[in-house]
Amino acid sequence: MLEQLDQIEKDALAALETVKDSAALSAWKSAHIGRSSPLSVFLGDLGKLPAEERPQAGKRGNEIKRALESAFGTREASLQASELERSLQSDKLDISLPGRPAKRGRLHPSSQVLRKIYSVWADMGFQIYRSRNVESDEYNFTLLNIPPHHPARDMWDTFYTTDPKVLLRTHTSPGQIHAMREFAPEPVRVILPGMCFRYEQITARSEIQFHQVEGLAVGPGITFANLKATLSDFARRMWGENVGARFRADHFPFTEPSLELDIECFVCGGKGCPVCKYGGWLEILGAGMVHPTVLRNGGYDPKVFSGFAFGMGPERISMLRHGIEDIRNFWANDLRFLEQF
Ligand code: PHE
Repeated sequence: MLEQLDQIEKDALAALETVKDSAALSAWKSAHIGRSSPLSVFLGDLGKLPAEERPQAGKRGNEIKRALESAFGTREASLQASELERSLQSDKLDISLPGRPAKRGRLHPSSQVLRKIYSVWADMGFQIYRSRNVESDEYNFTLLNIPPHHPARDMWDTFYTTDPKVLLRTHTSPGQIHAMREFAPEPVRVILPGMCFRYEQITARSEIQFHQVEGLAVGPGITFANLKATLSDFARRMWGENVGARFRADHFPFTEPSLELDIECFVCGGKGCPVCKYGGWLEILGAGMVHPTVLRNGGYDPKVFSGFAFGMGPERISMLRHGIEDIRNFWANDLRFLEQF
């Protein structure tokens, strides 16, 4: 009887030696320690043995059961370890491989110039004042000294809404009125950046939408000399200490007198090249002393207050800076263009 038990144990352990994978292991489990294994059958039949043999047989049978279970556990752990090892070897993950770089975005060329302009004016004490893209006829024209039927309106044709009094602003100048009406009678020193719209034929030189950065300073005793000094300082901060600047007389209905600022061509240094069309100078902005009528419309007494205003086009500045010949590139969303900046 005890020999029979020894044999069961020996057979089971010998079979376990040949087990090579987890499928074979679970087959072994049911054959040797499962419910219908010889050992379980033997233990189940204990009651049939003569009473004096039972204790010894039961003790030995349970010993063997524990031994086989622990041999099973050891085998199972070592099989799992070697299977893991094998899968690590075959599905090797090479962590030394460089990752795929995430594509980095960049700022649109207009945003780049805008930010540069903001920071220069911020250093000079000008705050950003945001004003609306959709304007009334009154703010875009009339309050800026361009009454209905005034021929100057021809210079700034725009897109009208179904209400003829509501339009897309043609310049940032209506923001001057908003800013003055908000701050009068306190002094103002702001820049007003934003999108403008014009009803024009789209060509390499003109678009139906573009940015402007307007500037406005109003206070007691602001002079034309202040305007010239401020614009010259802006040019130096924007384009370098040694850039030459000159002023030319111009006309705008909302400034009097009016001027235009040219700077020495930063491509050729004034010698003449295709960018400055061999003139040596680049036209940068329009400006002037705020017209008394406009000051009054903004809520200031022109006998006490004076001021200057200016307006520049960042796309134009960017075109000059980078030698961009076609303004349509700015809104065409062509990555071949945008990725160059
Ligand atoms: N609003 C003018 C334009 O669009 C520019 C300008 C602004 C001129 C402020 C003088 C003063 O052309």
